[in-house]
Amino acid sequence: MPPVVLVVGAGQADWMLTRDRWGLNERLFAWYYPRLVGLSERAGGQALRAQVLEQAHGRTLEIGAGNGYNLPHYPAAVTELVITEPSPHMLRQLNNRLADNSAPASWTMVQAEAEALPFPDSTFDTVTAGYVHCTIPEPARAVAEIARVLKPGGQYLFVEHVRARDGSWLGRVQDVIEPLHVYLAAGCHPNRRTEEVLRRSELSVEWVEHTTLPAALPSVRPVLLGAARKPG
Ligand SMILES: C[S@@+](CC[C@H](N)C(=O)[O-])C[C@H]1O[C@@H](n2cnc3c(N)ncnc32)[C@H](O)[C@@H]1O
Repeated sequence: MPPVVLVVGAGQADWMLTRDRWGLNERLFAWYYPRLVGLSERAGGQALRAQVLEQAHGRTLEIGAGNGYNLPHYPAAVTELVITEPSPHMLRQLNNRLADNSAPASWTMVQAEAEALPFPDSTFDTVTAGYVHCTIPEPARAVAEIARVLKPGGQYLFVEHVRARDGSWLGRVQDVIEPLHVYLAAGCHPNRRTEEVLRRSELSVEWVEHTTLPAALPSVRPVLLGAARKPG
């Protein structure tokens, strides 16, 4: 088990994992994540992905693709798909899924973190993400990168689990269990305020819907889906 260090500073405590970022913890997550998420996907989670991804078109980039649960939902309007994912363990699973022809005709797989996308400015018509903001270490930096690689007028499509609304008991529980959650779920924060991050970015939020992920653990049940556009 990798060592865990409790860091206390500036009036707040936070868990820091002194692990090899893509070591045992990530390996375990890559093993159990598809099994756990498979339940909620079959119970209605895949309909949420389809609702958002049906708007994807043209040159499309997916960030943090994991084991590829978004892949079956890309419409024919996607002419080229670039799939990015930093974890070597998830990349292995992605490879297997791509071998099953689950992706649009033209695809490329690139190992990359969302905070440092290895693409020129204004490259993509669409960028997509599914349950990635929870795990990205620096979400605001990632959104700035997404805005940079989108063409003017291009769209960012997202389905994300988020913090429950202020004043709710679930939101408070998410805050309390965050350190343990981060550790057990390979860096996943259950209480990210993703809508706020997007509204503070240079993207313009076009629509959002708040709903719940069926058959999911309560900590990841509140979901935000929507679209944001880079000003044209
Ligand atoms: C909860 S999983 C979601 C996987 C997949 N997108 C899905 O819809 O099921 C979070 C994913 O984010 C990836 N990730 C972690 N750090 C990241 C980063 N800095 N940039 C992009 N993706 C990251 C993880 O490796 C993992 O595959």
